[in-house]
Amino acid sequence: MKNHVKNYGFTTADVQPYEQENRTLARRVAEESIVLLKNDQCLPLHKEMKIGLFGSGASKTVKGGTGSGNVNERYSVSIYDGLKNAGQLIVSEAWIDGYDTIYALARQDWKKKIAASESPKVPFLLAYFDTPFSLPAEPLILEEHVREADVNVYVISRDSGEGYDRKNEKGDFQLSDEEYRNLAILNQQKKPIVLILNVGGLMDLSFMKDFSYIKAMLNMSFAGEEGGAAVANLLTGKSNPSGRLTDTFAFSYEDWPSAYSVEKATNDRIEYNEDIFVGYKWFDSFNEQVAYPFGYGLSYTDFKTTIKSVELEDTTVSIVVETENIGDTYAGKDVKQLYCELPSGGVLEKEKKRLIAFSKTALLAPHESKQEVLSFDLSQLSSFDEAKGQEFIEQGVYTIVYGQNAQQVTAVAQIEFSDTFYSEKKMHQVNNPDSLVKKAPSGSYEPADISHTLTTLTCTKNPFSQSVGAEKQTDTAINDIIAQLSIEEKLSLVVGKLSKSNSQVGAAASKIYSASGETSSIQKNGETLVAGLTVCDGPAGLRLSNEYQVDQNNDPVLQDISVMIDEGEYGTTGLQAGKQTFYRYCTAFPVGSCLAQSWDSHLLEEVGLALAVEMDLFGIDIWLAPGMNIHRYPLCGRNFEYFSEDPLLSGHLAAAIVMGVQKDGTKGATIKHFACNNQETDRMSSNSIVSERALRELYLKNFENCLERVTPVSIMTSYNKVNEVHSPNNVYILTTILRDEFNYTGLVMTDWTTTTLGGASAYECLVAENNLIMPGARQDIDAIMQAINDQKLSVDQVDRNVYELIKIAKSIKG
Ligand code: BGC
Repeated sequence: MKNHVKNYGFTTADVQPYEQENRTLARRVAEESIVLLKNDQCLPLHKEMKIGLFGSGASKTVKGGTGSGNVNERYSVSIYDGLKNAGQLIVSEAWIDGYDTIYALARQDWKKKIAASESPKVPFLLAYFDTPFSLPAEPLILEEHVREADVNVYVISRDSGEGYDRKNEKGDFQLSDEEYRNLAILNQQKKPIVLILNVGGLMDLSFMKDFSYIKAMLNMSFAGEEGGAAVANLLTGKSNPSGRLTDTFAFSYEDWPSAYSVEKATNDRIEYNEDIFVGYKWFDSFNEQVAYPFGYGLSYTDFKTTIKSVELEDTTVSIVVETENIGDTYAGKDVKQLYCELPSGGVLEKEKKRLIAFSKTALLAPHESKQEVLSFDLSQLSSFDEAKGQEFIEQGVYTIVYGQNAQQVTAVAQIEFSDTFYSEKKMHQVNNPDSLVKKAPSGSYEPADISHTLTTLTCTKNPFSQSVGAEKQTDTAINDIIAQLSIEEKLSLVVGKLSKSNSQVGAAASKIYSASGETSSIQKNGETLVAGLTVCDGPAGLRLSNEYQVDQNNDPVLQDISVMIDEGEYGTTGLQAGKQTFYRYCTAFPVGSCLAQSWDSHLLEEVGLALAVEMDLFGIDIWLAPGMNIHRYPLCGRNFEYFSEDPLLSGHLAAAIVMGVQKDGTKGATIKHFACNNQETDRMSSNSIVSERALRELYLKNFENCLERVTPVSIMTSYNKVNEVHSPNNVYILTTILRDEFNYTGLVMTDWTTTTLGGASAYECLVAENNLIMPGARQDIDAIMQAINDQKLSVDQVDRNVYELIKIAKSIKG
C-alpha cells in the first residue's frame, strides 16, 4: 500500500502572510538582542548625517552560521540595505562596490576549491564542510571614500560554522592587517566611528585602545534575515538597544582559561582544568580585567532600580524590583539581573558569584516605572561535593546582589544558612578523572559593598527536596504495540529510516525533501501502527531547501543536495521541466547566541511559536534545536548556535523556545548537544576530560535547568566523548543522570553518523538508553542484531528504547 504523503509548501513563489509575520518578528527579536557596548555621545545618528559605510559586513552582512545551523531564507537585509531603506545617505558606495566585486570573485574561487576536493569518497557536503569560506581581504579606504562622511560605520564580519573551529589568527579572532589599516585611516579622519561586530561569538578587542575615534560599538552577532534593518533602526534611534552580553568579552584570546587546555591537548584529550570557573566565574574569581563583562549593555535612556521587598517563603526567595525610566526622550527596556555572592573558603572553593535570576522589563516610556518579581529557589545556591557525591550549601552568609552586569553590583539582601545542608545522595560514579589538574582561586573575594542596611533572611530548613525519582509510568497500549513487532521492525524503529538517497549528512529524509532525517513508520493490516516522524534543523529557523519537486506519484524528485546550501547559491539545477514545484521560504531568525542577548524568555517563546507555524506548513514533526552547550571555548565553531557561558541563562532560554514550539502538543523540540560539545576540531573523537563537579554545576546544569521547566520531546547527544566514553554510549550521563536523576522521560537521539563515522557503538547506544540512532544506516541494524546474538544486548533493552520512540510518535501524531 502506498503511504500517501501530503505535499507541503506552496505552489507559487509568492510571499505568504506567515513570511511577513515572521520577518517582522525576526526584526523585532534582532532589535531586542543586539547589544550597545559603547556610546560616547555618538548615537543615535541624525537623519541628515552622511554615512561612510565600510568593512566586510557592510553589504555582505553575515546573517547566520553555516552547516546544519544555516537557514535558506528568501532574502536577507544587509546593513547597507537597512541604512538605505531607512533613508540614510551612504557616501562610500564606490568602496562598497569594490568590495562586492572582490567578494564575488572569492566566492567563485571557493566553489572551485570545493569542487576540486570532491571525490567518490568525499561527497559534496563533506567537501563543503571541510572547506570553509573566508571573507576576502578588503580594499584600502581612500580619501575620496571618506571625504563627505559625517560619521563612519565600520562592520567587522566573521563566518563560523559546524565542523571547524575559529582560529586565533589575524582575519579571524583578531583583526586582519587590512582591517587594522582601514580603521587607522578612519581614525585619522577625526570623525566618530561606529564599530559593529557581526561575529558569531567573541573576538580579540585589544585593538580598541589604538582608535580613539571609535565612539560607539554594537555587538550585532548574527542577527538573522532582518539584521541589517534592525541595526539601522538602532543606529537611527527608531529603536532603543536593550540587549545584554551573554558572554564575557576579555581582551585577547590568552585571557580565556580554556585557551590553554585546548592548545595543549594531546590525543584529543581536552582537559577542563579551569573546572567550574568558566566565563565570568573565572574573570570574577581570579580578579581578571575584562573589556566588557557578562550581562553588559547600554541603552539610549537611563533606568533607576529600587528593591521594594525581599521575602523568603519556604525555600523560595522573591524580590520585588521597581524599574523607572529616568530619561526624558527614549522609551526603553532594561534587563534585571540578580547574582549571589558565595562565601569563599570553606569545604570547597566556590566561584565568586553566580547568576540566580533575570528578567526583561516591558517597554517603559520616559518617567514610567513598573515593578516585577524575581524569584529563585535556595537550592540554586548549591555546589557539588565530589567526595560525598552530594549537592550542598555550606553554612555561612550568601549575599544577593542586583547587577547592572556581572561586575557592577549592589547588595540587596543576605541569606544566612544556620547549618550546612546536603541533598540526597547522588548515584554518582566515582571515576572522576584523577589526573585532571584543576584550578581554583586562593584567598578570599572582595565582597560587594554592604555598608547600607540589608534585609537578612535566615534559612534553617534544608532547601533540597528529598524526593526520590518519579515512578516511571507504563502505557499498556504501547506495550501492546511492541508485542506485535518483530525484532526487525523494532530495529527499524530505533535506527532512523534508511534513506532512499542514502544521504547520511544533512538531508537524509525522503518524505519531506531535504529535511535532516525521519523515523520509520510501521503499517499492519492497512493501518499505521507506529507513525514516522520527520526531523529538521535548527537552531536559527528551519533548514529546508527553498523549493522541491514531486513526480507523478507525488514522491519528491531527488535533487542535488547542494541546492539547500547557502540559499541555493549552488544553483537549482535539480529542477526538472514538467514536474510540480513547491516553494518553502523559511525565516532566518537571529542565531542562538544572538537570541540569548535579548535576555527575554517571553520573546524566545514567541520565536518558538513562530517556528511551530513553519513546522506545520512544511510537515516537520521535530525541530533539531535549540542548541544549548556552554560557551567554554571562545573559538568553538558552533558557539553561535548556543546561548551563553552561563547555565541558568542557557537553561531558562532553551526552555522558553521549547515551550513555544511544543505549545499545541503536535510538535517537538530537541535540546542539544548532550554534553560538552565545546569545540568542533576533531568533534567526533575529542574527549572532554571534566570533573564531576564541573559537569554537574555547568555542562549538565544548563540541561537540568531547562528540564525543570519543560520536557522537550527529545535530546540529541553530542559527537564527543565525555571522560573517555562517547556521549551516546555514556551510561553515566544518559542513564544515571539524565534519566534517573533528572527524570527525563522523552526521546534521546544520536547526532548524525556518530555510529557510522564517529566511532560510537550502535548497540551501546541502546544500552545507555540513547533510543534512536540517526540518520540510520544498514550497518547500525546489523551491529545491533549481532550484539543481540552475542548476548551483549537483550531484547528487553531494545524494547525499552522502542517504547520511548513509540511514546513520542503517539504523542505527536496521535
Ligand atoms: C549536527 C546536528 C544536526 C544534524 C542533522 C549534525 O551534523 O551536528 O546538530 O542536527 O547534523 O543535520
